[in-house]
Amino acid sequence: MYTPMSDLKDATLDHRRTHGCGSHPVVDGAQLAAWAIQAGARSAVEIGTFLGYSAACLANAGILVQTVDRDPVHVALAQRHLNERGLANRVNCMTGEAVEVLADLPAGEADLAFFDGMEVSVAEIEVLARALRPGGLLVVSNVKLGSEAAEVRELIGGWQPWEDGEVLFAVKPPRAS
Ligand SMILES: C[S@@+](CC[C@H](N)C(=O)[O-])C[C@H]1O[C@@H](n2cnc3c(N)ncnc32)[C@H](O)[C@@H]1O
Repeated sequence: MYTPMSDLKDATLDHRRTHGCGSHPVVDGAQLAAWAIQAGARSAVEIGTFLGYSAACLANAGILVQTVDRDPVHVALAQRHLNERGLANRVNCMTGEAVEVLADLPAGEADLAFFDGMEVSVAEIEVLARALRPGGLLVVSNVKLGSEAAEVRELIGGWQPWEDGEVLFAVKPPRAS
């Protein structure tokens, strides 16, 4: 069966072996794109570009993506992969610390906010929550990792989040800032 961007996922896994950065591609990019489509998303903000696999899956579904990664090697490789697949015009790859870079984005505009960094933190979820529009979908991978996971759940407790395995979902309430 054809899986969109499976070649890019394979390249990402190869990079993980050779670069030693410990990063990993999102488990299932097609599933991520399906969640985004189901939520009616046309725009997304992502923390954790890596080699662009998840961004490519979203862009391939017609979604405009703003993605950030602190590792310039990852960003350069992601831009190359997106160019090769004709998706570069739908993805803005930014380099730097997510909390600083995403603070410059307009507030309350993104339909989907996706955390795919390593260990989730309150500061990262705050900056994603700011970028998300009321009614937009927050997706947090690796939610069980890191020392701030409990605080993150508390931060968005009022958003009535739900979890499926390692992934947390929440919809930003209409009047949340
Ligand atoms: C799990 S990988 C992302 C996988 C990617 N979404 C994919 O599907 O291939 C995590 C990436 O997030 C980046 N990262 C983690 N925390 C970050 C932060 N606070 N700011 C910017 N980049 C971050 C790492 O450099 C790494 O490339």
